[in-house]
Amino acid sequence: MATECPKGRNRKQSDEDMVNLIDNVEQKDDLKYNRRAFLKTAVGASMALGLSTVPFSVRAMIGLAEPDHDRVEIIRLDQLPKGESVTFHYPTENDPALLIHTVEGKLVAYNSACTHLMCPVFYQKEKDVLLCPCHKGYFDVNDGHPVAGPPQRELPLIEIEVDRGVVYAVGRQYRHG
Ligand code: FES
Repeated sequence: MATECPKGRNRKQSDEDMVNLIDNVEQKDDLKYNRRAFLKTAVGASMALGLSTVPFSVRAMIGLAEPDHDRVEIIRLDQLPKGESVTFHYPTENDPALLIHTVEGKLVAYNSACTHLMCPVFYQKEKDVLLCPCHKGYFDVNDGHPVAGPPQRELPLIEIEVDRGVVYAVGRQYRHG
């Protein structure tokens, strides 16, 4: 049996009102706390993202950004006379490459898998040209572009650097055209 409240409403109604009030308060609090938690998380995530990118941005601005590939020693220049070539791998052990000291004294390097069907390409000193013997494909030694035979695409260029008499591979370029 319900008891009367001082203002004339019975206790059962009063209890239900209280439950509704608590529900409403909790729902409001839930929303408030959820919103606060979301904002905290969003701000935290933004700051973390910002901080993680700052060092790279700074390094890029001052020219110290990580290169795409490692710097790899190929050979001492005095061990590679004009008209000679040497094989190496770059940027991985699965990428055969050729460094050529041309008869004119220029240093150039390319990945040496023929762009036709992947046979190895050689430097032909007598003609100062790169030759793929599989189907007689020829490449210009100065820029790696195909000049005769089946190959249609140029050889990937290996960027090199000479530092204190040592030749290093420092990058690779895929070119088109
Ligand atoms: S694989 Fe080099 S010309 Fe065919």
